[in-house]
Amino acid sequence: MDHTNSRRYFLKTAGSLLGAAFLGLWGTMIHTQRKSKKKELIRISLDSNGTVLFHEDCIVINKDQPVVLSSYCTHLGCRIQTFENGQLVCPCHGSTFDLEGNPLKGPAITQLKKLDFTLNKETQTITIKI
Ligand code: FES
Repeated sequence: MDHTNSRRYFLKTAGSLLGAAFLGLWGTMIHTQRKSKKKELIRISLDSNGTVLFHEDCIVINKDQPVVLSSYCTHLGCRIQTFENGQLVCPCHGSTFDLEGNPLKGPAITQLKKLDFTLNKETQTITIKI
């Protein structure tokens, strides 16, 4: 038996198995993190004067009928945190969106996700379940 080939085969197999185990564990960690994040409740006061309120995962458009959008760009998922010239601007590749989340300029071609929320008119507070 050729010991060099046997050792090489063992190292290749062990490396592949360790790599697969690592990827499986990594995927589980990411999935668990996303699942736990979905249960988060965010409360945002509409008392401030701003029309557009940025929060980590969402953008609140503060108008007569508020709109809550995901802050993650539909192109490759960068977080949108800029409002310029009446448009939401993605910092990564320059996509722009109107205040309803519709794409105005690409590369993004789909609308920002609208998020469900409840509005407490008495306290002027929006609660978003993410
Ligand atoms: S991730 Fe927003 S334009 Fe590419």
